[in-house]
Amino acid sequence: MSRVFSAYELNHLKNNGFKDIDTDSIGDSPVEYVTGHAEFRDLDFLVNPSTLIPRLESEKIVDLALQFISQENISHPAIADVGTGSGCLGISLAVSLSKKQIPYTIYLSDISEEALKIAGQNADNLLSSRVNLFFQTSSLMTNYPKIRFDVILANLPYIPSANISTLDSSVKDFEPVSALDGGPDGTHFINLLLQEIPDYLNSRGLAIFEINDTHAIEDFHIPNKFKAEIKNDTNDVPRFLLVNPNQ
Ligand SMILES: C[S@@+](CC[C@H](N)C(=O)[O-])C[C@H]1O[C@@H](n2cnc3c(N)ncnc32)[C@H](O)[C@@H]1O
Repeated sequence: MSRVFSAYELNHLKNNGFKDIDTDSIGDSPVEYVTGHAEFRDLDFLVNPSTLIPRLESEKIVDLALQFISQENISHPAIADVGTGSGCLGISLAVSLSKKQIPYTIYLSDISEEALKIAGQNADNLLSSRVNLFFQTSSLMTNYPKIRFDVILANLPYIPSANISTLDSSVKDFEPVSALDGGPDGTHFINLLLQEIPDYLNSRGLAIFEINDTHAIEDFHIPNKFKAEIKNDTNDVPRFLLVNPNQ
């Protein structure tokens, strides 16, 4: 049976110059991998099969970070985007801070060198300069210099392994499994990074993790002397774990 494209998908193809494409030739591939582009916070990001396609719900991570920076009056925030993929979180945060004329230092890291190459191209396309952006290959924060960040963002793989086979073909057969599979209950990478947080987060800083909507606070190993809360996404389901030191 031939695939039925949504209005969004047809528009996406058209807007990216794929007007007369034979839609049967696309199979189940996400249209973003066909065009090589994906929109995130109204910005045009390059994507390829080594990067997750940025999701709408992740945009709120950037809003939460901007809110925190403004509330705390941080004049030159140091930010880490761990598992940056296409770079959508760190780079769109840089774009928003630039617009507000707030200087920043942002580290963008991923275990995938291929993904980091795309993140670098996105930075070149979307920012006037790479000054104060640092790209590095790293498993979680292993290769980070010993500096403290005001904000740590992490959209790491969080889907429980057993659920991967139940995902839509456009996801499980095309997007990198290394960007999706979060171990037996989906918390493996988040819990590992939580153990690194005390060494890298400022005493007045905030770490924001994207989580699966089935996760609850009890599933996470919150470090001693830190507190945590979960916030919902725009569909009103639990999606973000916020962690900061007890003051
Ligand atoms: C869910 S994707 C998120 C990508 C991007 N931040 C976004 O929001 O679209 C997870 C990313 O984490 C990376 N990743 C997986 N394991 C990692 C690890 N141990 N250390 C660092 N990055 C990792 C994957 O390569 C992938 O790019």
